[in-house]
Amino acid sequence: MTTDVRTIAWTGDALRLLDQTVLPARVEHLEVRDVDALVDAIRRLVVRGAPALGVAGAFGVAIAVRQAEREGWDDAARDAAIARVREARPTAVNLAAGVDRVLPRVPEGAAAVAAEAQAVLDEDVRANRAIGVHGADWLESRCPRRPLRLLTHCNAGALATAGWGTALGVVRELHVRDRVEMVYADETRPLLQGSRLTAWELREAGIPCTVQVDAAAAGTIMRGLVDAAVIGADRIAANGDTANKVGSLGVALACAAAGIPLLVAAPWSTVDRATPAGDAVPIEERPAEEVLAWGGTPAAPDGVQAFNPAFDVTPARLVTALATETGVLEVAAGVTPASRPQVREGAADRPARL
Ligand code: MRU
Repeated sequence: MTTDVRTIAWTGDALRLLDQTVLPARVEHLEVRDVDALVDAIRRLVVRGAPALGVAGAFGVAIAVRQAEREGWDDAARDAAIARVREARPTAVNLAAGVDRVLPRVPEGAAAVAAEAQAVLDEDVRANRAIGVHGADWLESRCPRRPLRLLTHCNAGALATAGWGTALGVVRELHVRDRVEMVYADETRPLLQGSRLTAWELREAGIPCTVQVDAAAAGTIMRGLVDAAVIGADRIAANGDTANKVGSLGVALACAAAGIPLLVAAPWSTVDRATPAGDAVPIEERPAEEVLAWGGTPAAPDGVQAFNPAFDVTPARLVTALATETGVLEVAAGVTPASRPQVREGAADRPARL
């Protein structure tokens, strides 16, 4: 049984990506050697999920430097190509952060950039393992029922990271402890990261999983069928507001109404102190066709418009806790919509304020 998934790897001259657009029907890889192909892969969600995008961005700089050497680009052309990688998707702060992290190594050449990108990848796997332990400890202390019934939205697993996963890292750790009864995986319209990717990952790991349509989540929570929800994040603002896959806000509101915890699991690289609050997070809007058609078949009449935001923002007051690689911050004192955020330090060695 597979317990981890290699989403992204550097071969020495190419970035090898597990093609997430064809899962679960096929397990295929794509080898990316030029910037156009990488930007296309990022936009099409061949590689996706905030931490994986950070790693892809970091290796993307190595690809741009190699391509510049190969094709005789000047520095301006190389830098423009790097900027295109950095801006390929706007919401997950990790993409730009991954690019920025390796930029100082550009004058040393592609191999030095790739070595720094590999460090980003390795750090992410280590962070996810730690997030899993901290998050699992916190859920065990917070939720008395055994085994636990959990709900997750989108895919914040090994596929969305360099390995193990954030939200699913917590789930995997709880599974190792024999504490998981069931994971409800929201299907995650319109691109089905929940049913295609999370369910695949959990099945590979032998973790019980039930797929439900996104619209079922609130009812499942209010009927008392889950003990906690655990989700990932694309960008966490300085005040704790959390951008994640569209539909996360509905899950958060239902958790608050039902009085169960919403745990956000994310590495510190997803916290963006330069973004003061959630209303400043750029929300990606994706093509209308993703909503208006289904496998090439129209799902709405001709001429109808679609609104297709890829993410929404959950206010900090609805986030019970944030599990990071350094510990758990209890973001909200309570889970009622009226409660004010009171960021309190848990086991973290970071400041109490995000
Ligand atoms: O559009 P996607 O599939 O890139 O969105 C991914 C998510 O929203 C994840 O929950 C988030 O990036 C956290 S991944 C550990």
